[in-house]
Amino acid sequence: MTRKLFVTTALPYANAGFHVGHMMEYIQADTWVRLQRMLGHEVHFVCADDAHGAPIMIAAEKAGQTPQQFVATIAAGRQKYLDGFHIAFDNWHSTDAPENHALAQDIYRALRRNELIEVREVEQFFDPEKGMFLPDRFIKGECPNCGAKDQYGDNCEVCGAVYAPTDLKNPVSALTGATPVLRTSEHFFFKLSDPRCVEFLENWTQDGRLQPEVANKVREWFKRDEDGKVGLGDWDISRDAPYFGIQIPDAPGKYFYVWLDAPVGYLASLKNLFDRRGVDMDAYLADPAVEQVHFIGKDIVTFHTLFWPAMLKFSGRKVPDRIHVHGHLTVSGEKMSKSRGTGISPLKYLELGLNAEWLRYYICAKLNARVEDLDFNPDDFVARVNSDLVGKYINIASRAAGFLHKRFAGRLSADLGVEGRVLLDGLRAHAATVAAHWDEREFGKALREVMLLADRVNEFVDRHKPWELTKQPGMDAALHDVCSVCIEAFRVLTIYLKPALPALAAQVEAFLQVPAMQWADAQRSLGHHSIGEYKHLMQRVDPKQLDALFEPPPAPAAPPPGGEEIAPEIGIADFAKVDVRIARIVKAEAVEGSTKLLRLTLDAGEGRLRNVFSGIAMNYAPEQLTGKLTVMVANLAPRKMKFGVSEGMVLAASDADEKANPGVFVLEPFPGAVPGMRVR
Ligand code: 2FM
Ligand code: ZN
Repeated sequence: MTRKLFVTTALPYANAGFHVGHMMEYIQADTWVRLQRMLGHEVHFVCADDAHGAPIMIAAEKAGQTPQQFVATIAAGRQKYLDGFHIAFDNWHSTDAPENHALAQDIYRALRRNELIEVREVEQFFDPEKGMFLPDRFIKGECPNCGAKDQYGDNCEVCGAVYAPTDLKNPVSALTGATPVLRTSEHFFFKLSDPRCVEFLENWTQDGRLQPEVANKVREWFKRDEDGKVGLGDWDISRDAPYFGIQIPDAPGKYFYVWLDAPVGYLASLKNLFDRRGVDMDAYLADPAVEQVHFIGKDIVTFHTLFWPAMLKFSGRKVPDRIHVHGHLTVSGEKMSKSRGTGISPLKYLELGLNAEWLRYYICAKLNARVEDLDFNPDDFVARVNSDLVGKYINIASRAAGFLHKRFAGRLSADLGVEGRVLLDGLRAHAATVAAHWDEREFGKALREVMLLADRVNEFVDRHKPWELTKQPGMDAALHDVCSVCIEAFRVLTIYLKPALPALAAQVEAFLQVPAMQWADAQRSLGHHSIGEYKHLMQRVDPKQLDALFEPPPAPAAPPPGGEEIAPEIGIADFAKVDVRIARIVKAEAVEGSTKLLRLTLDAGEGRLRNVFSGIAMNYAPEQLTGKLTVMVANLAPRKMKFGVSEGMVLAASDADEKANPGVFVLEPFPGAVPGMRVR
């Protein structure tokens, strides 16, 4: 039976480019979706930017942009990552799109009709200078438990205590430094503690649709105290203006908290896709055969297993069928951290010329259906790609293709010999179990099984030694059969790997001169068929490339800065000749044809913009820079370069010995500086 699948990944906040953790989730979901499509199932696979919320509003303001401009810049950078890692969403939308405004308001109105919305007075910190209520993350003070200074309003990073921002001692606004004052305001609550919600959620979370460890964790919320009260509390879904979000109907100055409208973005993206195709989304979702599947990380389980299903249920909509939760990505056993030099930038990975499918393969090899963290270990990465993927699988084609081409004009033999046919039948018999592993998200098991099958093929080659057959007179037919078996086997294994390695599979299809392969094609054989010329399909990883991937820690500990001598003394008049200004990076773009340069559009407060090329592409992705302030030499004579005229120079630090201490580090002024200010 054909499955009908509506699949999503978590909507990323539109405040930065993707990190490798995002890519892991997209690779997992994309691989799963590709398997379903190869099996002939119908899939709609969508995502969107999560555009709203106070942090994005504040970041936009800092960048001198409207929130809409700010998120548009981030959105414009998405495709490069998705294409680069072969992530094939059917649609990418935004939670700030009209579809989402309409859907979120509809859902809210339905909840209100169901008497599940309540208004209550809430006392909260207010920044009198900024004129706004402060989100927890923007209040700092001393921990009420251990007294540690400079702690956030929600929890202490020193002792781990969790508290309300109003518990902090000597609180200050992280936005202005002002002392916040307490103010009351009306907030809207979704009454999750209503018996209807509790009953529905307890059943929905415990009926077997969730992974066992996820179901266990959320079970805590339904524990009753002596009075029979459950732990599940009502959910504050409103925020006061100014807020970047969606207006609450009939409540001027009130907005939905970002986490209310974020998951609605799943539906908004699907609606946007369907509207363009002339398909009715409500009719589609009303079909009981449709399975709604969300891939998410373990940190956002509560939103997806309590709030979101309840919102859907009590607004009369379809509820999710599955929540596929994965763990986090660690690097060499540690939480990823730029300051320790363990951050992996996905764009840098591509720019260094590392093959996207090495990462896809490696991540898939380590993924399972449980909520376990996944460790990226460089040595393990090299070993798995080089010895398994290239050494076992690619090797099969390269061992046989040359002989077929040279000796038999690329034509396959249809006979294959008894042993060959037995080998191939053996491979084909695994189609269902390999598919089941992929489908159950036991990706590691799927790949282990395929590699065991590749071992069998390599043993077959070792037994039959085509390199000797080719020298023995009268052994042409045997050589032809052995090599043809290899190509058939390679084709079957490629089908099994195709969900994880779509671009490689496309190359193989071109080489074999066959149309796009589906799962069922594993059961067929090519017979008398001519294949194309073999071109090397995949290189081995050079471990050195991987070293370059890890961003250098900001302060290289050793060796000391390359011993560059201080330049000869100058007077203040010499220095005054250099006009150094604060500038805003309005736009940063890659330069086609250059791996070193970024094209920056700078605003130095002159009422015009400048075009400046800067050799910093190896250290920064464009979206890391957009909106930031930096420091530039403003009176340097314009320079004509291969890609255009550069009208200034951005200041950046680097070591004299670039090889020993690689990296260029752009300067950023302390807060308070504005474009046009002179540095003196
Ligand atoms: O945690 C996050 O990155 C959120 N932006 C995820 C939202 S998922 C969905 F609800 F939109
Ligand atoms: Zn503390």
